[in-house]
Amino acid sequence: MEKIIALNHKMNLNYGDLKSYINGLKKLDLEVIVFPTAIYAKMFIDSGFKTGLQNVYYHKWGAYTGEISPKQAASIGISYVLIGHSERRDKFHETDEDINNKIRCALMEGLKVILCVGEEANEDYKVVLKKQIHNALEDIQDEIMIAYEPKWAIGSQIIPSNKRIKETINYIKSLFDYDVKVLYGGSVSGENIKTLNEVNVVSGYLIGGGSTNINELKKIEEVVH
Ligand code: PGA
Repeated sequence: MEKIIALNHKMNLNYGDLKSYINGLKKLDLEVIVFPTAIYAKMFIDSGFKTGLQNVYYHKWGAYTGEISPKQAASIGISYVLIGHSERRDKFHETDEDINNKIRCALMEGLKVILCVGEEANEDYKVVLKKQIHNALEDIQDEIMIAYEPKWAIGSQIIPSNKRIKETINYIKSLFDYDVKVLYGGSVSGENIKTLNEVNVVSGYLIGGGSTNINELKKIEEVVH
């Protein structure tokens, strides 16, 4: 099975960087889903990439200054959305209830949802993940994907052991009654991808810091393709 490579640009890249970035990305033989800063999304769609948003709101339209609705996203050809990224939870105070509403609204518009979950270093991963998944998916039956991103691994250049990743992903899978796809995220790089890719239960990777660097992505391509 081909690995899914989800590229979370976060709030990076300027408009002037996009032409050469897109040309570089086109040359890679990778199954990518690009999550650019929202104002650039149409460029990626028009270049033929599967494109997602890093966040959406949970109403179709209305007086919500600065927000983007799943309906608007779908209307320009967005097909995926990341929901519940730890930076949204921590820096923008997103609650489990917000996340549940966002997932429901996104699914209603036909978007594919990647729900991000992950524990702090001092937390029991089973307790945290079970709660995050349960609360996010309350009263939701549609299938989604999960991105498992331990908070302490995001942007830290530290990754869990393969044993720990496998154990955690198997635990996440056990919480679903369908064969849920689980991506791993948190400091994925050209340096550690060879080791990470030995974990056979991983459906793909959510890459942040490395995602805007074509040379880094080339190293990842050499391993996963
Ligand atoms: P990172 O970010 O690859 O920079 O650790 C991953 C993410 O936050 O999705």
